[in-house]
Amino acid sequence: MPKRPEFKEFEPAWLQRSLDRYLSWGLGFMFILVIAFPLYNLREPSLRADAKAAQQSEYLVSGSTLFEANCSSCHGKQATGGSAPTLNSKEFLSGTIDEQIILLISGGVSGSSMPAWSQDYGGVLTSEQIHQLVTYLRSLQANAPSVPDWRTGAKAGG
Ligand code: HEC
Repeated sequence: MPKRPEFKEFEPAWLQRSLDRYLSWGLGFMFILVIAFPLYNLREPSLRADAKAAQQSEYLVSGSTLFEANCSSCHGKQATGGSAPTLNSKEFLSGTIDEQIILLISGGVSGSSMPAWSQDYGGVLTSEQIHQLVTYLRSLQANAPSVPDWRTGAKAGG
């Protein structure tokens, strides 16, 4: 009877060393990730706040430019009123939420000279531009004078 070939384990030292090397690199990278992730997380809220503030100030600049170009002829420079209502009024700004203002600008006021501005209603402005206008109007709110009869525009007492 022929002798069976002897089974020899294939475990040369060089292979063991190479495996060890891969394992320690893997472990090293894992530790880097484990440490880096919480560090990134710590910065995340301020990154977001910064991005929001940057967008806010961009919207403000665009919104005020859009207002002067499209709205001030009726609503007055800086929204102080004209043939159309005074939007820079504490009463108007604190009495309306953003969604209302967006709807009013988007759809206009039928039966008045206030046109629909949203492209959805045949106007010329994108919804982002309408948001920019709202950002602009909101920026006036902190210092808005009291104009109880804001609806009458420049014909109001002031
Ligand atoms: C051709 C004149 C005209 C232009 C231009 C105009 N508006 Fe108006 N807007 C009006 C009039 C008039 C009203 C009042 C409608 C009513 O309630 O009888 C009004 C009403 C509004 C209102 C609602 C206030 C309320 O009466 O409750 C908002 C908000 C507004 N306009 C924003 C804008 C913005 C923003 C622009 C520029 C994109 C603009 N308007 C351009 C004439 C104009």
